[in-house]
Parts: sequence; structure tokens; C-alpha cells
Amino acid sequence: MAPNDRYEADVRDTDVTPRETESSAGKATPAEVAAYLKSQQDKDLLRFITCGSVDDGKSTLIGRLLYDCQLLFEDQLAQLDADSSKFGTTGEEPDMALLVDGLQAEREQGITIDVAYRFFTTDKRKFVVADTPGHEQYTRNMATGASHSELAVLLVDARHGVLTQTRRHSYIVSLLGIRQVVLAVNKMDLVDWDEATFERIAADYRTFAHQVGIEQVTCIPVSALKGDNISRRSQSMAWFKGPSLLEQLETVQLASDPSARAFRLPVQWVNRPNLDFRGYAGTVQGGQVRVGDDVAVLPSGKTSKVERIVTMDGDLAVASDGQAVTLTLAHEIDISRGDVIAPAQDRPTVTDQVHAHLIWMDEREMLPGRSYLIQLGTAFVGGQINRIKHTVNVNTLEETAASHLELNDVAVCDVAFDRPVPFDPYAENPATGAFIVIDRMTNATVGAGMIDYALRRATNVHWHDTKVDKAARALVKAQRPCVLWFTGLSGAGKSVVSDLVEQRLSAMGKHTMMLDGDNVRHGLNRDLGFTDEDRVENIRRVAEVSRLMTEAGLITLVSFISPFRSERRMAREMLPEGEFLEVFVDAPLAVCEQRDPKGLYKKARAGEIPNFTGIGSSYERPEAPELHLRSDQASAEELAQQVIGLLEARGML
Ligand code: ADX
Repeated sequence: MAPNDRYEADVRDTDVTPRETESSAGKATPAEVAAYLKSQQDKDLLRFITCGSVDDGKSTLIGRLLYDCQLLFEDQLAQLDADSSKFGTTGEEPDMALLVDGLQAEREQGITIDVAYRFFTTDKRKFVVADTPGHEQYTRNMATGASHSELAVLLVDARHGVLTQTRRHSYIVSLLGIRQVVLAVNKMDLVDWDEATFERIAADYRTFAHQVGIEQVTCIPVSALKGDNISRRSQSMAWFKGPSLLEQLETVQLASDPSARAFRLPVQWVNRPNLDFRGYAGTVQGGQVRVGDDVAVLPSGKTSKVERIVTMDGDLAVASDGQAVTLTLAHEIDISRGDVIAPAQDRPTVTDQVHAHLIWMDEREMLPGRSYLIQLGTAFVGGQINRIKHTVNVNTLEETAASHLELNDVAVCDVAFDRPVPFDPYAENPATGAFIVIDRMTNATVGAGMIDYALRRATNVHWHDTKVDKAARALVKAQRPCVLWFTGLSGAGKSVVSDLVEQRLSAMGKHTMMLDGDNVRHGLNRDLGFTDEDRVENIRRVAEVSRLMTEAGLITLVSFISPFRSERRMAREMLPEGEFLEVFVDAPLAVCEQRDPKGLYKKARAGEIPNFTGIGSSYERPEAPELHLRSDQASAEELAQQVIGLLEARGML
């Protein structure tokens, strides 16, 4: 193998900084790197991930792979020797894990905490390896790392065999559509290179892998530390007749061919530099597109022809999977970010409800009905998980009913989007079939989903436009409808203040409606209790009803504890700007508890009401309410007057 056939770069950063190559003395320029990459273009590319738990020796394995193949450069090796004596856990030998665990924080904690991609080549093939972490809570990275890979190298410690973690990773790997697994049974040196141990673990794993639909399993006994069966066959395990890890990676058949899929271009942005040019930019996610092709734009379904395929290096006649291009079309049609351009004859499905597998990745639980932001391809839509069909126990593959999802839960769910979106089933195209769930309050990614198929339930329900509309109804009443949303602890005074406000409005001849927690819970919401998921549903229904009330032209007073920011925000977003007025009725818990108008705090303290707001269940204070009332500092009359003042200031009266 010629030394200049080797190249290794850490592409953890998007900006790929070239490192010194063995053959050249100085730093490679970006142009040299580009030229090198071009020369490598004809080799096929295997993307794979590695997974295993913290102690399985994953970093050591990758380090060994690179080291053995002489993929390391002199300066990195010098650094490695220096680091090994400082942090190393391997005595005299260089610590391979240090090479790979690049981040200082990781080194000091001895764990790997994000996905680092590494690119290397041998004379047979190019590789991109996503090194995913082992801790349970990092399932998220595991999922992101795997989504572009077609093979997984799973590590187990020969002394421990197949663990829960191994099963979890295998299950996720299979969910992500990876059908090929190499099981590296590591630390064989610590079990005296024992064949029976290896065979037992291999058999154990094959049984499980088969159950989760992993079709191809290759088991290899290795010692990453000593280098056995990584790039060279082990002397100590002459009984093993299979390939070394590197041989396996170099020769395994590449299964999927993304260019065989139907053409998809999720539109990243609309490029409109002047009136003469309008292009739709994005990365081709599967298939090929040619100038002159008939295309449809989803979700609108409008059709046109591809006029030009524009790139940085000039126009193309054809573009295929993975290429970043800008299409121009023969017709002026309205296209925006998040739309998908596809062959007119082979379109993605458009729907607002899907059946999906979901991996929950947040410490905060997933509550059905809560409104999340969902990113699907380049589209961002609001949505919620309507129903959890079941969770899957990744150890036993048992299906269990669940009312909410916790960190690392894997579930099958019905997911609803706020508007119809184009997608493909994940099995057909991972790029247009996967979505991530984002928390609206924190902007954190809290879940990853894979769409199985569309649910057609809602497809035949259309919004009916009526002749007498909200404005007409409000006009008859000579008023501007709005929602006054009173939130606060039980006993803070929401009902008392809102009642006074309604009396005054009524006296002014205004048409009002009051929705009060205690009252609505006697009827519409009589089926709901006080678990977090029930409170979410409680507020969702009340928000919908209050929206209907404003459609009726009414000034609507809503008086619910409504303890969660997410749901108050959802209620706000259901209404036009300015029509949702949040009134925070604020009194210290101690004051509410002392008032205790219904004797509920006393019961809660006695342990009779386990999830009472403020005691066993949290209240998230409003961050920017339209009005903040301090009910411990002013009388109910004064507070009611402040609310009237707010309505006047907003021109509502
Ligand atoms: S919310 O949290 O879902 O918005 P909501 O306003 O409908 O609550 O109902 C609150 C009322 O239910 C309280 O005023 C109190 O009278 C009663 N209640 C009974 N159990 C609880 C509980 N565990 N937590 C809070 N309120 C409770």
C-alpha cells in the first residue's frame, strides 16, 4: 500500500482543516486536499458507525485501526506519546483512546461525548466512520451518527458479552435501516483468547440480531489494545478463520445505492438575486434529476419542467444524490423552504398524520398532545405526538403501553403535523423519512423519529369556510374578541379576579364567556386528572375551545392553573397576534397555602393529593405575561381594574 494512498482527517468541524500528509513535508493546502479527494473519487465509500459502551474499548479500536494502517502522521504520534504518559491508562504502550478522544473534557472524564466523524482510505476503499458514544443518555448522537451509515461495528467486552446497551444499540441500528453489523468481541486477551467464550457471545448476539431484522452479522474476536484481528490476523487466535476487522470493512458488499431511489430535492432556500433568476437550492437526497425532467413541487402538487441545474462550477445536465444544486423551473410557481421537488410521476406522500418510530432523548418526558417543533428534511412544522401505541423494551422486544415517554424510550406513535408535509417512508429514503423533535421552549433536540407510513384519517376532513365569520360576529356585538388567559397557582386568586373582570365587562355591555378550570373539569374535561399528560390535554382542549369562543366574537376569560409554558405558548400561537393576553395572577406559595380556600393544600401536605401544583407538581412562571398581578399586594378589585386597564390600553374596549 503506497503511503500517499493514506489520508486521514478529523472532520468533527465543518471546516475541514487539512493535516500534514506523510508524503509532504509542509501543510497540505485546501487545493491539494481537494485534488487528493478527487483522485479518490473512483473508490467506493463505506460509511460506518462504531458503538459500544464506555469500557468496551471503542476509541482504542478506532485508534488501533488508524495506527496499524499507518494513517497517523508524525506530529499526531508525537502528541500521542506525550499524552499517553499524562492521561494514559495503558502503561508503556501508547493509549489509542487518547488519539481518538479529541476533546479535553472527554479525556479528563474518560468518555466520548459527541459524534466525531473520521475520514480515511486504504487502497481498496474510502471510509467515513462516525464514532458514537457509549453512555445511555447519548443515544441521540448514536441516532444522528447512524443515519447515514450502512454498517455498524458493535463492540462488546469479551468478559461481559452481550449487554442491555448492546441490544439497545442494535435495535436503534436496525431502526435506522442498517442491515449489516460487525460484532467485534474485544479484549480477547483478557479471556485467554478463548474460542468457546467467543462462540458463546457470537451465538448470543446472532439470536438477538435476527429478531430485530439485522440480516448480516459478522463476528470477529479482537484485541484492540494488542492489535489482534484489527488489521492483521491474530497469532493468538489461530482458531479463528474469519477476516480481520479491516478486511471485513474493505470487502463487505455495499448494499444500498441512494441514486437508485426516487429523486428528491428538499428546498433549502429560494435564491432570487434579481427579477430574472429564481432558483431552488438544496442537496439532492436520492435519485437523479436531468434538465427537461417533469417535476412536481410538494405539498402544493404544482408541476413544471427542470430548466437548468446550476452549481458553483457551472450548469449540469444531470445531478445525483448528495450534490448541492440550484434548480430553475420552466414555470413561475410558488415554492418555499421546506417544499420538496420530485419527479411528477413519483411523488412523496403528503399528509399531516404519520405512524412513526420515535426515540426520546430528553430528560424531560414527552407528553402526548404537547406542541413541539418538528424538522422534517428542510421543513419546520409544529406538531404533536397524539398517541403512544406502545414502547419497546429493547432487551426483550416486549411492547408495553405507556402514557408518556422518558429518556431513551423507543416507541411507536401517531404523530400529527400542523400542516400537510411531503415525506417518504424512512425505509425508502432516510433523508426524507426521518424527523427530529425540537422543544419549543429550549430549542433542544428532544427526539428522533422515523416515519413508517401515512395515516390517512384526517385527509378527507377539510376546513369549511363559512359566510358569517369571526369579524362579522364581532361586528354584531360591537367588540373586539380576545382571550384573557389567567394563570397561577391554586388559591392565587384567578377565579376571583376573572369573575370581577367579567362582571365589569358585562356591565359595559360586552359579550363574554368564562372558562374556569374547576367548572370545565366537571364537563368537557371530566375524564382528565392531574398527571402532567392530563394537564397538557386539559389545556389543549381549553385553548381550542377559547379559540372557538373568539371565533364567536366573544371576549373569553380563561382561568386555569395552566402550569406549563409550552401549553400556554401553544394557546397563544393558536390566536392572531395581540388577541391572547396572558395575565399572571401571582402570590407566593405560602400565601396561597395559607388562604387554602378549598382545603386542598392541607390535603396535599398530608400526602393525600400526590401531584398538587406547587407541592408535588411544578408551576412554570410566565416569562413575559401581558400583565403581572401581585394578588398578595392589592385587592381583587384593584387587580380587576388593572385588567380592564390592559384591555383599554390595547384598544379592546
Ligand atoms: S391545570 O393544572 O390542569 O391547569 P386546572 O386549572 O384545570 O389545573 O384545575 C385546577 C383546580 O383543580 C384547582 O383549583 C383545584 O381546585 C383542583 N385540583 C384538584 N387536584 C389538583 C392538583 N393535583 N393540582 C392542582 N389543582 C388540583
